[in-house]
Amino acid sequence: MTAVGIDAIEIWTGKLRLDLPNTFAPEMGEDPEKYTKGLGLESSSFPDVYEDIVTMGANAAKQLMDRKGLTPDDIGRIDVATESAFDNSKPVSTYIAGCLEQVYDGDFHHANKGERKFACLAGTQSIDDAYNWIKAGRNRGRAALVIATDTALYERDDPGEATQGAGAVAMLITENPSIVELSTEQGYGSADETDFLKPNQQFPSVDGKRSVQVYLARMREALEDYESVSGDTHPDDFEYIPFHTPFPGMVRKAAVLGYRHMTRDTEIEDELTSEIGRQPREADFESREEYTEAIRDYMDDLKGMDQYREWYAETIEPTLSISRNVGNWYTGSVHIARLSALRHALERGEELAGQQMLVGSYGSGAQAEVHAETIVDGWTEHVEAVEVEDQLARRYDISFDEYELVHDVHNHEKEVDVEAFTTPEAEFVFTGWGRMNERRYEYVE
Ligand code: COA
Repeated sequence: MTAVGIDAIEIWTGKLRLDLPNTFAPEMGEDPEKYTKGLGLESSSFPDVYEDIVTMGANAAKQLMDRKGLTPDDIGRIDVATESAFDNSKPVSTYIAGCLEQVYDGDFHHANKGERKFACLAGTQSIDDAYNWIKAGRNRGRAALVIATDTALYERDDPGEATQGAGAVAMLITENPSIVELSTEQGYGSADETDFLKPNQQFPSVDGKRSVQVYLARMREALEDYESVSGDTHPDDFEYIPFHTPFPGMVRKAAVLGYRHMTRDTEIEDELTSEIGRQPREADFESREEYTEAIRDYMDDLKGMDQYREWYAETIEPTLSISRNVGNWYTGSVHIARLSALRHALERGEELAGQQMLVGSYGSGAQAEVHAETIVDGWTEHVEAVEVEDQLARRYDISFDEYELVHDVHNHEKEVDVEAFTTPEAEFVFTGWGRMNERRYEYVE
């Protein structure tokens, strides 16, 4: 069977940085530790005035094409995943292809282009579409370019304002990939939910607390559905478990639930019994409420156990390092979690070829998806080439007043004229609107 998966990854962060505990929290009258300890965030990325989902996506894609030495002829489809689109008809992928055509010989007229929507899940769904296209033998030897790009902005003073971010992840999906091969097995947890939505409005309507609960419920269903085809999972099966990371604190909640699930009826549950008892079983309780309370108590105890803490430190914590510094990238966020883990493994010189990761994606509205990925020989070279730390370090630190201006600049309802904070160099920039209200872009040297 042909192996299909991720052959290359590139990221593009919004070029501004907001320090959450030191700049944002004091102005909001909040304790900085809500960010560092509660949400698990240090800073978030914002787009400069000439950046948007198209420039970030096109810049990530160009870096990827340059590094891999690709031309438009090598790419047979461009799928963009976003929940920040500004057009209900013309897909963002056409704008990105238009940008790329400014700088490469040839064009993308042969390429199938689309835009995927299912909140933060759409990046993973686009990978899925590419996987199916290649597996079906329709790709004519070409690769798929998947771009997850978002400006995750909330209304001012919405609780979600704490978890904003902006950036893009470009991924090349090919046969015989160089980084990870995707499993055929997948699990889904999907239900009509009203936790987070943007009914023809720029900023989301969010029921934040509910969205956390819905994430956990759908993720659990997806894991069970995955196990129905792959067999039971065990914590030792996976080197890393990248989750969708709207903020690292969310993943802390998902991880303990996942660990409890994976260790039920295993030697780990037996080992822990003398200290915290066996996991509550629903059949032993008179009511659902009593059962739920017992589960909550068990998980509180579980979080303090060495076995759990070691597993968390090795399998989950390494997935959070980029997210902690950039905030929520919506469709890109699970993909930067994978990249964080691989970068961590690289720094530690881990030999990962042949090892597995379990990847848990989620989109509000709501659907979770779980699949496994096998890391392939040669992954180090392709992960090392991604410029992560330099990009993050180059961001311009904004003050709170500047943050307020930047938020206004990107608010579609407002017209404000603000000077750019950084100077674009060798990248695509937004230059204004055309006669049909289309957005226009140029490459600046
Ligand atoms: N020290 C340590 N921890 C602190 C703290 C402090 N001083 N102050 C608050 N915290 C903790 C809270 O206990 C909470 O953690 P917990 O959930 O484990 O209890 C966390 O920090 C967040 O604080 P909270 O008061 O709940 O924040 P909030 O009311 O601003 O809401 C969200 C947080 C995530 C609900 C909100 O930011 C939101 O709506 N985000 C957008 C939606 C989203 O991302 N959903 C995720 C699923 S996709």
